[in-house]
Amino acid sequence: MAVRYNADTKTFILETANSSYLMEVSRYGNLLHMYYGARIPDEDLDYLLTFQDRGFSPNPNEVGNDRTFSLDALPQEFSSDRSGDYRNPSVELVWGEGGTAFSGKVAGYEISPGACVIKGMPGLSGGPKENVDTLVIRLEDPVSRVEVRLAYTVFEEKDVIARSVILANYGTKPLRLEKLMSATLDFRDSDYDLIYFTGRHMMEREMRRIPIRDGVHSVGSSRGTSSHQYNPFAILCEPDCGEDHGQCWGLSLVYSGNFLIEAERDQYRQLRVNAGIHPKGFSFLLEPGEEFQAPQLILAWSGQGLTRLSHIYHRIFRENLCRSPYRKKLRPILLNSWEAAYFDFDDEKILSIAEAAADMGVEMFVLDDGWFGKRDDDCSGLGDWTVNRKKLNMGLSELSRRIHGMGLKFGIWVEPEMVSEDSDLYRQHPDWCLREPGRPAVRGRYQLVLDLSRKDVCDYLIESMNRLLKEMDVEYVKWDMNRSLAEAWSGLLGRERQGEVFHRYILGLYYVMDHVILSHPEILFCGCSGGGGRYDPAMLYYQPQIWCSDNTDAVNRLKIQYGTSFAYPISSLESHVSVCPNHQTGRTVPLATRGVTAMDGVFGYELDPTKMSAGEKEVCREQIRFYKRYGKVIMDGDYYRLTNPYENRYFTAWQHVSQDKKKSLVGLVITDKEGNEAQRYLKLKGLEPDAFYRIEGRKGKFSGRLLMSAGIPVPNGLGEYDGLQIGLKMI
Ligand code: GLA
Repeated sequence: MAVRYNADTKTFILETANSSYLMEVSRYGNLLHMYYGARIPDEDLDYLLTFQDRGFSPNPNEVGNDRTFSLDALPQEFSSDRSGDYRNPSVELVWGEGGTAFSGKVAGYEISPGACVIKGMPGLSGGPKENVDTLVIRLEDPVSRVEVRLAYTVFEEKDVIARSVILANYGTKPLRLEKLMSATLDFRDSDYDLIYFTGRHMMEREMRRIPIRDGVHSVGSSRGTSSHQYNPFAILCEPDCGEDHGQCWGLSLVYSGNFLIEAERDQYRQLRVNAGIHPKGFSFLLEPGEEFQAPQLILAWSGQGLTRLSHIYHRIFRENLCRSPYRKKLRPILLNSWEAAYFDFDDEKILSIAEAAADMGVEMFVLDDGWFGKRDDDCSGLGDWTVNRKKLNMGLSELSRRIHGMGLKFGIWVEPEMVSEDSDLYRQHPDWCLREPGRPAVRGRYQLVLDLSRKDVCDYLIESMNRLLKEMDVEYVKWDMNRSLAEAWSGLLGRERQGEVFHRYILGLYYVMDHVILSHPEILFCGCSGGGGRYDPAMLYYQPQIWCSDNTDAVNRLKIQYGTSFAYPISSLESHVSVCPNHQTGRTVPLATRGVTAMDGVFGYELDPTKMSAGEKEVCREQIRFYKRYGKVIMDGDYYRLTNPYENRYFTAWQHVSQDKKKSLVGLVITDKEGNEAQRYLKLKGLEPDAFYRIEGRKGKFSGRLLMSAGIPVPNGLGEYDGLQIGLKMI
């Protein structure tokens, strides 16, 4: 059993293939965190707890005169404010009588097979033959009559522990919840680095690594979405941890709204990490008998460095999170109309682009923004999900029929959560958007945000999206979301409940996605939010792929895709070849290199093929043929970051290796050049050491061990921004 309780040592033990997680019930009933790391046989870790009389670290009343027992110094599983623990707490609340303390003691536990259900939000589920068990520990506070249930689902083979928290108000008066973290993870020491992923629109998920120092370092979003600025994923690691060695711990929040990940080194050099919904702007009123569930946090530990940690997340996201039947399938190679035509098109232009795309070997044509309502630019039309006959006179179903007639699949763009003031929807329902009373709404990209905390708005969206998808034959939908939320005020909620709006918006979004996306399993959905502004696990539950960034510059993408790969599988990362000079950066990079970078993901095009020369089209044809040969390795192979683009200025390289290690593909892009250059070598990874491999286009055979220890010379003949792909096959 992956989960058990040792009554002698009062210890809960969670075990995965390679890790152990232990908690102990203190002599006063507090739940103490004892260990999370390499798998151990031990079941009594009491010796690790040290007790001292520490000045200004108070003692709970029940310990009497024992001045050595302080919650300020002990590692805990769930910490509360006003308990004498001054670190950032797991919970903040005001219960019925106005008190703000929660003193939860272990009151019972339950172990059951299967995964914990996360109500109204995405979460991991166990596969049919997997060992998955859930432990729920009940903490009770008889005074406030608040109960907290800590849930731990152990995915034994997958090396993952998923946590969630449920807080119930069993008092007789309403309770106001102001903070509830999905997990608190205490470490007795703190000499670690924090790795997080930060950025902005068009430059998402840049990797940052900083040593933990005294005080608090936090990342998070209060923009209503998980955001371009910070990703809801972080890693703690030993200072010398690298790709292939060292201990590291991952924290991934399955949530698309405001979040906080905070790491705090305290005065005793201990470390506390909290992760969950951002308390900024959050409060939730719980009537007697009501409960609140925090989103799921996926924890993973690796003793073999960051690559192994990434593999754990890639696998669990692909196999236990994503619901789409496409999650393991090779996706059709698409051409998207955005950078080809922006808003400027009519039926004829679209058909000629599609025709040229089909001729190039593309398999699906996607019609991006601009096909609906009165949408000639981004000032109007959102909300009116009916075709704009002035632009597409033949209508969607005929357009789709013609495109299918070319042998292509058809896809379409939508942005359901938004409304333009210049739209019929807004004219009919001006009260349907988020806005503070008495003030005009804050605009973003000229548009307003629909109030998805309202069921009537959600039901309208479900109805209008399902009607649209019925109207034509469509195999792909790009679901966009192009601004951050500003106000979080809903016309239907009383003022005491406005702190719930951000979270209710996200619950509303999941409700809409449950009824649109999950009810169309035959359609391939792609997530998008100005590129990668909502690249989070909860979106991957619904959509197996996400448009990684609005930045299609093949050189910038090296860093964006590098950062994305730490948590997210390559099968989720949509990446397209676009024209040069690049529309976002003005940089010119060879077409072949643009293909190399875009093939580090779900491959496609974002350009107008009618404007390409015969030679350029031939290069694209060859890229498509090549991708088809290696697509499976890219989609379900193991991913290796061969270089760190922030450290190696000369080239960036990565590698996909099939699960059986028989096939591999290396991608490399030259990022800087020098005169009379040194010879550089690229050491491969993940191959079978004792097997021999053939390198495509090269004579001879090479052992996996040789390729991994001596490597391959990086050809000095390559110029700046030249790219290279190296295919390997075991013989
Ligand atoms: C967002 C997307 C783009 C494109 C535009 C359309 O920015 O990320 O790919 O769809 O919207 O308006």
